[in-house]
Amino acid sequence: MGSQETDKRRWFITGGCGFIGSNLIESLVADGCPVRVYDNLTVGTREALAAVTPFDEVEADAAWSEGVQLVVGDILECDVLAAAAKDGDVIVHLAACTGVPDSVRDPHFDCRTNVQGTLNALEAARHGSAKRFIFASSGAPAGNVEPPIHEEIVPKPVAPYGASKLAGEAYCSAYAQTFDVETVALRFGNVYGPKSGHKTSVVAKWIGLALEGKPIEIYGDGTATRDFIFTTDLIDAIHKAATAPAENVSGEVFQIATSHETTVGELAELLCTALAEAGIDPPQVRFTEERLGDIKRNYSDTSKAAELLAWKPVTSLQTGLLHVLEPLLYRNASN
Ligand SMILES: NC(=O)c1ccc[n+]([C@@H]2O[C@H](COP(=O)([O-])OP(=O)(O)OC[C@H]3O[C@@H](n4cnc5c(N)ncnc54)[C@H](O)[C@@H]3O)[C@@H](O)[C@H]2O)c1
Repeated sequence: MGSQETDKRRWFITGGCGFIGSNLIESLVADGCPVRVYDNLTVGTREALAAVTPFDEVEADAAWSEGVQLVVGDILECDVLAAAAKDGDVIVHLAACTGVPDSVRDPHFDCRTNVQGTLNALEAARHGSAKRFIFASSGAPAGNVEPPIHEEIVPKPVAPYGASKLAGEAYCSAYAQTFDVETVALRFGNVYGPKSGHKTSVVAKWIGLALEGKPIEIYGDGTATRDFIFTTDLIDAIHKAATAPAENVSGEVFQIATSHETTVGELAELLCTALAEAGIDPPQVRFTEERLGDIKRNYSDTSKAAELLAWKPVTSLQTGLLHVLEPLLYRNASN
């Protein structure tokens, strides 16, 4: 990734053992930044982190090192979180209840994790030394609106997940204006990329099923749309959000996606083509019931991020899918 402006600031990453966290940490390690990961290991694992970098597991009140540290803890443990984050410079808050279906099944759990957990992380920033706070939001707060989604749309979340992410954005705004924490809320599109084997999001799930020779399922008739963003583009946006001048970004929300609308049916075709090119039998495609809380159309206008973060995605869906398949094919070939 290489981002000289990130210097050697101390990066504190909640949820750093997960999909996006492990991709982010890989780039920070390449930049030589001190990193502290805070994760309760309910989804992410020590093994996932170890696959990216060597690390030391430490207590929350341990001194920072020049390398990568892991503190095992929950964002709902306010005091532990504050102690662990105390001497960090940049906080990237990724830990969350990440799924629409989970939030529909248990809205209380989703609220505790995404609202109280985000408030706890903001409090850790306020009482510690971190100036910059980056919040992983989503397209979900906007809801079922006419796309492209942009930052000026009045949010109308469909699922509890969208409501809890919207509350997180609201607290970020309040902490920027009342407590002088430089918050930046990034509304990620549908992220795909390496290290996503555990995810149930569409690209990760379909690749897993295809490699097992199983059929893939499309919820609804395949015309639902999403905006698929590759991990390297997303990580670049996080770096830019961490280094942009405060007057451009503090208290702001940014759509971080590609501005391309892709139907789920098109995604299935592109993936089948990529798999066939790679010598793997394309999976059978089945259509099933729509899911409660799913949004029909979703893609973003990213012009605000282009202007204020000087950020633009560069990876096409075709290229990104091939990048995800490459290491898997290598693994398959060597089995
Ligand atoms: N992946 C996407 O497409 C996408 C899209 C939009 C927004 N996001 C947001 O990005 C962030 C990261 O998503 P991801 O895809 O890497 O998810 P992930 O599930 O792979 O990673 C989340 C990590 O957070 C940890 N975690 C969960 N609850 C915790 C808690 N209470 N305390 C401490 N750690 C906890 C998990 O163990 C896991 O390692 C989330 O906030 C998610 O809502 C992701």
